[in-house]
Amino acid sequence: MATDITTKRTYPKPEAKAPIYYGPLKLESRYLLSPLAGFTNLSFRRIVRQFGGVGLATTDLVNSRGLLAGSHRTMKLIETCPEDSPFAVQIFGNDTVMMRDAAQLLEARGVHSIDINMGCPVDRITNNGGGASMMCRRDWTLDMVQGVVEAVSIPITVKMRLGWDSTQITAPLFAREFEKIGVVAVAIHGRTREQGFTGNVDHDGIRQVVEAVDEIPVVGNGDIKTVADADYMMKVTGCQVISIGRGALANPWIFRQLVQWEETGEYDPPGNFVERLELLRRQFGYMEEQHGTKNAIITFRKMGHWYLKSMRVRAALRHQFQLARTIDEFEAALAEIAEEGPTRGTKTGELPEWHIPVPSGPVERW
Ligand SMILES: Cc1cc2nc3c(=O)[nH]c(=O)nc-3n(C[C@H](O)[C@H](O)[C@H](O)COP(=O)(O)O)c2cc1C
Repeated sequence: MATDITTKRTYPKPEAKAPIYYGPLKLESRYLLSPLAGFTNLSFRRIVRQFGGVGLATTDLVNSRGLLAGSHRTMKLIETCPEDSPFAVQIFGNDTVMMRDAAQLLEARGVHSIDINMGCPVDRITNNGGGASMMCRRDWTLDMVQGVVEAVSIPITVKMRLGWDSTQITAPLFAREFEKIGVVAVAIHGRTREQGFTGNVDHDGIRQVVEAVDEIPVVGNGDIKTVADADYMMKVTGCQVISIGRGALANPWIFRQLVQWEETGEYDPPGNFVERLELLRRQFGYMEEQHGTKNAIITFRKMGHWYLKSMRVRAALRHQFQLARTIDEFEAALAEIAEEGPTRGTKTGELPEWHIPVPSGPVERW
């Protein structure tokens, strides 16, 4: 039976906590959007910002080389708008000078904060000395990060995994050293590079990073899908901040739920089928504004795929949506989806929970 969508959820309210600062930047909440390449683009960030509760949102990882070359694709990735604030850009690279120059370019464009990617596990990035491979190169990495911190006056953060593999857990060491050189926060996805997305997030591993630093906030990340998961992450690891990636795609209302919970111990359920369809249309509209209709139809397919799955739309209708090449075909596919509703649940009731699958198998083959 469908749940009454107006029913508030309850979960024991947490103790009041001090607001979070990244250097001089006060975050609007302790709940951050984790970067998901291909998904956490401007159109999605605008959606989650409108629902409310997002403390800070970050772009997908951006190549420092591409930024300096002014590549069209890269410049699109860093586009923003006034409501997309505070706004961080995540950069990666293997060249100290380029990383520093890219940071200065971003500061000049008014970006509020820069995040350095030290967690990306994919071969394309790690084989070139970027992403998670930096966790194996202590001196070079510290020099590079220090160079970036000293080159700009905006706050610098670093996002890492626990380490390369279970025999090289270097996150606590790096976090401690980063704090000394002026990094304002570190985010930890509680898995090693070798793990990819397999296994459970290692909360003890995140806790060790919290214990390794003096004052800077540690952002706990990984597998948070609900208010209860968020509460658990903060209680068990002692982290002050959390970031959510896949959970926000499955439920873009999660940040608002978290702030409501923190303030009252009650929170609204996530959007129903009708509200998700409205969200999808609105996000597509933002993509059209940014990329033009033709490109938006193609670019939106990836996002649309996940949304329609989470809305429990029948496979044949999802397929039809993916085949749309013109705005008329796009609208016709959506009209049929709206008419038919979900295969499980109702148009106005709560939909069954849904999790975004991740690449599986050895990281080397992604
Ligand atoms: C499709 C996808 C793309 C990702 N892209 C990035 C990225 O660009 N930069 C980054 O630091 N992490 C990236 N991540 C990792 C996430 O930010 C996050 O650390 C990870 O998904 C665990 O958090 P979650 O369980 O809340 O999703 C990506 C993850 C996925 C699944």
